[in-house]
Amino acid sequence: MIISGKAKVCGIMAYPVEHSFSPLMHNFYARELGLDFAYVPFKVPEDQVEAAIKGAYALNLAGMNITVPYKQRVIPYLKDLDPAARAIGAVNTLVRVEGGFKGHNTDGPGLWRAMKEAGLEIKGRDCLLIGAGGAAKAAAYVLGSQEAASVTILNRNESRARELALEMNRCFGKDFMTAMALEDYKSLPDRQWLAVQTTSVGMHPHTGRAPVEDKAFYRGISCAVDIVYTPARTRFMAMVEEAGGRAIGGLDMLIYQGIQAFELWNPGCLVLPEVVEKARRLMRKELEK
Ligand code: ATR
Repeated sequence: MIISGKAKVCGIMAYPVEHSFSPLMHNFYARELGLDFAYVPFKVPEDQVEAAIKGAYALNLAGMNITVPYKQRVIPYLKDLDPAARAIGAVNTLVRVEGGFKGHNTDGPGLWRAMKEAGLEIKGRDCLLIGAGGAAKAAAYVLGSQEAASVTILNRNESRARELALEMNRCFGKDFMTAMALEDYKSLPDRQWLAVQTTSVGMHPHTGRAPVEDKAFYRGISCAVDIVYTPARTRFMAMVEEAGGRAIGGLDMLIYQGIQAFELWNPGCLVLPEVVEKARRLMRKELEK
């Protein structure tokens, strides 16, 4: 890849940033598409967030990804905010506009695209959302905007689930999300649930765990997505499958949230399915390291 003086420059801002796969992925897409584009990691300490955003603009960066722990922290320093990012209250992608950056959230669209490609239709479904943290909020917004019939938010801390349900019901102007304590899962009504697992339970290195250990719980789940991508097959996915359901992991969501950002920075460029498949292979190899 040749980076010329005309290269479009983007990066990722995080702390720490060393573990990020984003530089690898974005530079891979640029190479595959033959773009003059460079993507670099920026490790930004907490007291430098505002300076980093202003500096990125001064340095003529075309955009940035924002990740842990800054997805909410950067919002006050943005020029504009996409409505979905505003509703979710977090941004993971900045796009350069006149006078600053506009904040977007591509986690939700990434999840939706991964589900759609896997044939998991949201519209009209009764959904179980497991977790009520930042990732759950982006997922709840997707379930709402893709017209789920109902969403039951199950969380260890029930009041957090209640708060998220309330916020989303207000956002969509209808009463279709309800909250339940995770430990009360036995009182869930009988449905063919579409489940979205957004907690960190089962993530490497605690791969032997699932948010609910009871096999009976999984019999009610007809299809599911776990946003965890390490390991590729979580215990949650295994339990869904063993009970006869279909389950997908979080790798495609990770890939598609990146592609959505890449396409925002490079309008008119499309990352085609064969490139997505190569990216998947590349990521799997990286994750095995
Ligand atoms: P993120 O932004 O990645 O979603 P978060 O905001 O810290 O991170 O949320 C983590 C989610 O995982 C929460 O829903 C959390 O439940 P609580 O709100 O009850 O803390 C859930 N979680 C984490 N560890 C858990 C565990 N051992 N059992 C059940 N839920 C867990």
